[in-house]
Amino acid sequence: MKVQLGPVAANGAFDVVAILCTEDSLAKDDVVNAFDKALGGALRALIKQEEWTAKKDSQLAFSPAGKIPAKRVYLLGVGKDDAVGVRNACARASKNANADKAKTLAVVLAGAPSDALVRAAGEGVALGAYRFAKYLTGDRKPKSNVASVTVALREAKPAAKGAKPASFASALSKGVAVAGAVNMVRDLVNEPPNELYPETFAARAKSLCDAHKIKCVVWDHKKIQAEGMKLLHAVGRGSRHEPRFVHMTYTPKGPAKKGRKKLVVVGKGLTFDSGGLCIKQAAGMGDMKCDMAGAALSVGLMAAVSALEPDLEVHAIFAAAENMPDGNAYRPGDIWGSLDGKSVEIINTDAEGRLVLADALTYAAKLEPDVLIDHATLTGACMIALGSATAGMYSNDDALAAKYVKSAKEAGESLWHMPLIEDLRDSMKSDCADLKHTGDRYGGSIIGGLFLREFIGKCKHWIHMDIAGPAFAERPTALGPKGGTGYGLLTLLRFMESMAAEK
Ligand code: BES
Ligand code: MN
Ligand code: ZN
Repeated sequence: MKVQLGPVAANGAFDVVAILCTEDSLAKDDVVNAFDKALGGALRALIKQEEWTAKKDSQLAFSPAGKIPAKRVYLLGVGKDDAVGVRNACARASKNANADKAKTLAVVLAGAPSDALVRAAGEGVALGAYRFAKYLTGDRKPKSNVASVTVALREAKPAAKGAKPASFASALSKGVAVAGAVNMVRDLVNEPPNELYPETFAARAKSLCDAHKIKCVVWDHKKIQAEGMKLLHAVGRGSRHEPRFVHMTYTPKGPAKKGRKKLVVVGKGLTFDSGGLCIKQAAGMGDMKCDMAGAALSVGLMAAVSALEPDLEVHAIFAAAENMPDGNAYRPGDIWGSLDGKSVEIINTDAEGRLVLADALTYAAKLEPDVLIDHATLTGACMIALGSATAGMYSNDDALAAKYVKSAKEAGESLWHMPLIEDLRDSMKSDCADLKHTGDRYGGSIIGGLFLREFIGKCKHWIHMDIAGPAFAERPTALGPKGGTGYGLLTLLRFMESMAAEK
């Protein structure tokens, strides 16, 4: 999809024109007026008849029937004219333009442009157009896709301080690139587990890195065992598809700089989680193809950094395995060592994510990160606590957590800072090993976080994101269809950029 800045007038050759409006400005909106004039007053008449007020998330669609070149005109209410409002409205525009089989779309932003708003517009149009149609054939295949989007700004002169018009084009293309990375995460999550298993997952990461000249090291099962990642090995041994461990490294161009910060991101990569011997019930088991969403964020991060080129060293790591029941599978009652050295008594083979992450976090902590972040579809308990659209965030550093909350707000992603309640550690005491990997049922998401914390070595700045809920949507969201959402990447990228900007 091509997305560019450009003028949009009523006589412009676009299949669909989407005009973003705010409640405050609708009455005097000069773009609406210009289209109304070209349509002989039909647009204002419709607004009046429908009593449309440009409320947040509302839409008024109109078919001009030959009076202007456009086949459809949408008026979209943005609510507050902020990044979240613009992103959502633009996503709705491209989603509906796809449904209307449009090839060309024009979007007129609501208020005075700024870099942040133009970037959000780029993110929105590219996110909203997303579909996972790879496996559809015949009639089920989408007939057409929006191929070109023109984004028009209301005022030539930006009202926002410090914003130069020349920077808008770059803000727009950044937004489109970021959305491309989110869409790649969605593709990985939506891919069925017979196609995406540890080996093919690692291969996709490797080919992305090769294309962007990013270093990528893949460990196969033999190497994983030789290096002492006993927990990753244990989880993966029940599957014909052997586990993989992947470490991707982005280093900024140019000479090495002193004091350059290091961000390390780790993801849970269960390409399918059947529960293992403690097998899950059949209903909903297929959704467990999404259990690699955390790892997919690591890959998406690398896709985005090659476009954003932050002045940071960025490491993206994931541990990929398939959790299956088998004669060779790990069992409840087993005791396994770990890369860290601690021994772990296995209680429930369905609590596999924290095991593969334990080894990956130990490895990551050895890189001495300034900030260490993991993403994992870790616990159903987190969904019980926060619902399915909000991630649980845990951290051993409250100041860092506060920064992450701020990044999430800017990104429009919902998360909640959860406590690491020390008393709950008791339930992980084991009679025969250093610790059990599960404890009481109550507080299950917290216990998951406490277990992971045992494996971060000396790292003082760690965040754990339990994304079990928002990684996979059961109904369409403001930004995309059912299925993989790519949740977490927009927040992570904003955090990364603020980290790069810090002195
Ligand atoms: N992958 C699941 C968690 C999950 C549940 C992710 C729903 C997405 C949607 C995880 O491996 C798991 O099975 N967790 C168990 C932990 C329990 C056995 C301690 C759970 O949540 O029931
Ligand atoms: Mn599980
Ligand atoms: Zn799992």
